[in-house]
Parts: sequence; structure tokens; C-alpha cells
Amino acid sequence: MTSFSLNGRAVDVAADGDTPLLDVLRNHLGLKGAKFGCGLEQCGCCMVLIDGTPVKSCGRALSTVAGRQVLTIEGLGTPEDPHPLQTAFLDEQAGQCGYCLPGILVSAKALLDRNPAPSRREIALALDDNICRCGSHVRILKAVERAGVMLRTGAMRAAAEGGQ
Ligand code: FES
Ligand code: FES
Repeated sequence: MTSFSLNGRAVDVAADGDTPLLDVLRNHLGLKGAKFGCGLEQCGCCMVLIDGTPVKSCGRALSTVAGRQVLTIEGLGTPEDPHPLQTAFLDEQAGQCGYCLPGILVSAKALLDRNPAPSRREIALALDDNICRCGSHVRILKAVERAGVMLRTGAMRAAAEGGQ
């Protein structure tokens, strides 16, 4: 049995500890957001955050996440309360097939969590491990920039309201 936190909830998984985390998420826990692409840690569409760090879940054994915090795209926001990244990607229409986007969105979240005002180069470097076969790169970069602005504006507004 392996126990960890998944999108803020405690889960216990009775699978072999060598099972790839991606397989556990999709086939044992029913979360289909993280995608299987190459299975070789090359494409990034299986990316999740482990303790806030982007990790390719196809190459990560279940046993390695015991006691840790795992975040998948399902934990980022909801249709009623989307994360600014989700709003920005819709606003910019940043994607075509969408297959790469679950991995890109969690990678972008990790970036904005540590650097809310990244340059375009810093965004490109942070997404270097995420491949988009549809060629949506420019719109994806713009969407991450837009989300950063939304997060900074929201933080300033919250600070101003807190100071009233
Ligand atoms: S499926 Fe994991 S990196 Fe491609
Ligand atoms: S939108 Fe199709 S792979 Fe990126």
C-alpha cells in the first residue's frame, strides 16, 4: 500500500510499488488528465507536480511518491473556479488538440508559483520539457504571460483590500 496526497486528498493505492505513477493515476484512480504520449520521459504530456516540482509521471514509480504531495491538472481549478492559467489559456485559445496541455499547465503553475513575473525566455525554458505537436507554442507563451499578469493583479487587489 502506498499513501500520498493527491490534489489535496489522502489516497491509499494497493498496487505494486514499481507501477508507473501515470498508470496509477489513470487506471487505478481514474484521473485521465495526465496523458500517455511517449512513455519514455521525452514528451511531457504526463507531467504532474510532486511537492511542487514538475515530474514526468510515466517514469516515476508509485513507491517514490509515498508521503508526498501530487498535483495533477484535475487539482488546478474547476469550471466554476478556474485557475488563472486555465482562464488565460482559454482567452488566448492556446492549443489545438489539447493533448499536451495538462502537462504544460502544471509546468506553468510550478513556474508562476516560484516566479510570478517570468520573462518570455524564462517561460520557454520552464516549458522546455513539454512538447506541443500542434505548434501552439507562441499562443502558449502568451497565455502563461497573461496568467502571470492575472495572478499579480489579483495579489495586488487582495493586498489593497486587506489594507482597507
Ligand atoms: S508520456 Fe511521459 S514524457 Fe511522454
Ligand atoms: S495542442 Fe496539440 S499537442 Fe499541443
